[in-house]
Amino acid sequence: MAKNMPKEVKPSAARVNQVWSATVVTLFPGMFPGSLGQSLAGKALDDGVWSINTVDIRDFAADNKQTVDDAPFGGGAGMVMRADVIDAALFSVNKSNKLPLIYVTPRGKPLTQARVKELAASPGVILLCGRYEGIDNRVIDAWAIEEVSLGDFVLSGGEPAAVALIDACVRLLPGVIGNKLASVEESFEGGLLEYPHYTRPRDWDGREVPEILLSGHHEKVKDWRQTQAEHITRERRPDLWEKYNIKHEAKLNKH
Ligand code: ADE
Repeated sequence: MAKNMPKEVKPSAARVNQVWSATVVTLFPGMFPGSLGQSLAGKALDDGVWSINTVDIRDFAADNKQTVDDAPFGGGAGMVMRADVIDAALFSVNKSNKLPLIYVTPRGKPLTQARVKELAASPGVILLCGRYEGIDNRVIDAWAIEEVSLGDFVLSGGEPAAVALIDACVRLLPGVIGNKLASVEESFEGGLLEYPHYTRPRDWDGREVPEILLSGHHEKVKDWRQTQAEHITRERRPDLWEKYNIKHEAKLNKH
């Protein structure tokens, strides 16, 4: 054990020299930290809770013109990012610590809160951002890169998706969110979307706060919120609702 280290603190928990790190491999390093430099994530960044660094893919182009893409074999619209250039950029990232390596792409597996939790619990992430039509698939295979999507829509590139993924992880890092209970009751915890919230004024523009929330009856408030969460989930996300019911039926059958 290192000298002067308090006895009750295990080296692994001490996080000495080891803050959660995001490495973004991108053609647009100027897009980072971007909005991650503000608010909750920005404060945590300033406080040294996490760190971010970028790798500029263009630095790894082999020719004078700094070419990073080329026309797709087989024809078709758009350009494809070259495998040799991406490979060189990834080699420049220190992978000895075995961080998860993720390519953000609409072709990926949908990102879930469960995966976000795993990523936040790891020492950090390496995120590869694509532009144009995508990346030569051979480099994805060669590096066994995990492909992750933010949803069924297409962004102009992976960078905004990388920002969103990092934000989702950073807010889960120890000490970043003050109110632990707030994150326990939020959407997806327990498999449901979150119930609606209200604050003062009690009457706003003729719209009243639901009576039950003013009753001071904690059990009734809890039941109302549960019913609301179930209703909203059933309406908006039948896929989540089905999963929730299967889980609950399994639980009921056990007892
Ligand atoms: N890049 C472009 N669109 C994306 C999406 N929906 N999710 C993740 N990465 C993307």
